[in-house]
Order: sequence, then C-alpha cells, then structure tokens
Amino acid sequence: MCVCVCVCTCMCKCCDRYMESYKMAIARIIAFILFCSSICHVPSLAVILRTTDKIVWANEFEPIELTCLIESISTNNPRIEWKKIKNGIPSYVYFQNRISGDLEHRAQLREPANILIFNATRTDTAEYRCEVAAIDDQRHFDEILINLAVRVRPVVPRCSVPDAVTVGTSSELRCLENEGFPAAQYRWFHNNEELPLDPKTSPRLINSSYTINQDTGSLKFRRVKKDDAGEYYCQAKNDAGHAQCPPQKMEVYDIDIVGIFLKSLAAFVAFICITVGICHAHKHGCFSSKDHSDNNYKTPGHEHGVVYGDPDEGHFRHKSSFVI
Ligand SMILES: *[C@@H]1O[C@H](CO)[C@@H](O)[C@H](O)[C@H]1NC(C)=O
Ligand SMILES: *[C@@H]1O[C@H](CO)[C@@H](O)[C@H](O)[C@H]1NC(C)=O
Repeated sequence: MCVCVCVCTCMCKCCDRYMESYKMAIARIIAFILFCSSICHVPSLAVILRTTDKIVWANEFEPIELTCLIESISTNNPRIEWKKIKNGIPSYVYFQNRISGDLEHRAQLREPANILIFNATRTDTAEYRCEVAAIDDQRHFDEILINLAVRVRPVVPRCSVPDAVTVGTSSELRCLENEGFPAAQYRWFHNNEELPLDPKTSPRLINSSYTINQDTGSLKFRRVKKDDAGEYYCQAKNDAGHAQCPPQKMEVYDIDIVGIFLKSLAAFVAFICITVGICHAHKHGCFSSKDHSDNNYKTPGHEHGVVYGDPDEGHFRHKSSFVI
C-alpha cells in the first residue's frame, strides 16, 4: 500500500513539473509571436489608402463622390492632393488645400480625403488620382487611382424613313444619335408598338421581313409588305436615359409609282398621236365629203389659204371633171 502511494505521489510530481515546463514553452512562443508581429507588421507607421470603387459611373448633371479612404496613418496633417489625368495629361484638382482647375467652384473635399463633384459633366470623364503624403509615417506616401465615367443621356436621334416604297422592294430606315455615352442602343416602333428584334417571335409580324441592328439603328426590310406601311419612330437609349424622334409615315404601294407614271405618259403620247392621226385623216376625209356642196367649200378655203391650197386645186380638178 505504502509503496503504491509513494509511487503515485512521485508520478504526480513528475506530471506537475512536466506541465509547468510545457506552459512556459507556450508562453515563450506567444511572447515571441507578439514581439515578432510588433516588429514585422507596423500598422500605425504607414499611410494606406483605400477606395470603395476604382471604377465609378456617374450620371451627367448629378453629384458624385470619389472616395479616398485613409486606412491607417499616424501623421496629424497629411498632405492631400488630387490630380485629374485626361488623355495622359495630369492637372491639379485639389492642391494646397483648395480645389483648383477644372473643378473649381464645382467640387469640395470631404473627410477624410474624398472629393465631391456637385454636378458632374461629360468633361469630367477621366482618371483621378488621390495622393496622400504623411511625413511622420515610416511609409509616408500612398496613392489611389479612380476611373470616372460620366454617362450622358441621348439627345433626339435623327431618323430617316422613306415616304413611299413599293411592295416587294427592299427598304432601309435609319436612326442616329451621337451625344449619348455610353453609345446608345436603338429600338424601332411601328404604329406605337415596339418591333421585336426577330419578327418571327410575334404572330402579328410573322410575315414581315425586317431585321434590326440595335447598335447602328438600321431597320431593314428585305421585301416590303403591304402590312409594313404605317408610322415609324426610333428610340435611342442608354443607362442615362432615352430620346426618340417624332413618328414618320411610310406608305407602301402595290405597284411601282414611277412605272405607272411612265406607262401613263406613254399612253398619253400614244393617245395624242392617234388623235392627231385621226384628225389629219379626217381633214382629208372632210374635204372629199364636202366637195359636193358648192356653198361651203369657199369659206374654209379662204380662211386657211396656205393649208388648204391643195384641196382648192383638187376642187378645180373636180370642177373640171364635172365639166367633162
Ligand atoms: C447642372 O448643370 C447643368 C448645366 O450646367 C444645369 O442645367 C443643371 O441645372 C445643374 N444641375 C444642378 C442640380 O445643379
Ligand atoms: C402570313 O402569311 C400566311 C401565308 O401567306 C397567311 O396565311 C397568314 O395569314 C399571314 N399572317 C399574317 C399575320 O398576315
């Protein structure tokens, strides 16, 4: 019994001693880690910038804020500067604690180093660089680049719709808008209803032969049908808004108008020729029939002496023949 107890206490003591050295080892490791992290990683001695968006889209005539957040800094009054880089040429936007250049009177600096543009315009589309210099920090400079694109809503597009086309011929309607940014996409409307990109998808338009190019604004008919007649307008649209041209009427004729005109003209000319011919023939005929009445022949003969010279001779001949 006694031996057993003795062994037991001995083992426990051993255990304790072992545990203690183990704890000390852990404490040393932790201390080393702490020490190491304080040496290797110095968050309070570097200026580090961050932004919420490196690529920013804004709408024209709306406010927009470019964020330049300072994640860590230990300098009290860091020097903050903003530059605008357009076509590779930098210019100051915020310099010596004031807004300058393009954005003067149109923007302000907001804590910590954000820039707020009150009313963005299309000329503000550019790269912007936020630069912060912190003299007391070990790493005393950081910069961040932000790409700003200002959306511009489309203006009223220029539309060209032919007044009249002939059934079975091809025809193209055009729509163009140049102000919008990003470039507008086009939609066409026929009698106030939007034309789907593929006419086959609509039972109403299944027989129509058009194709629409959303990027160029062209509406092309391979073979115009009677049902394609009506009012057309086009809408130019991008993320900033849309605009449309007034509706224009396109008429569809069964037959070629020019053909009809030429045919009519030919018929008219033929008619004139025939009429003249008949008249001419008739005039000859008239005299031969009037020769028998002696009272009438003299009057036309005198009035149209030159023209009727020959018939007069004829008359004499007839007279002479009478004599014979
Ligand atoms: C922004 O500027 C445009 C043109 O300069 C002006 O028409 C518009 O009213 C301005 N918008 C605001 C909100 O100030
Ligand atoms: C399309 O054409 C077919 C065959 O010519 C005709 O039966 C059908 O009614 C037409 N559909 C429409 C909507 O005009």
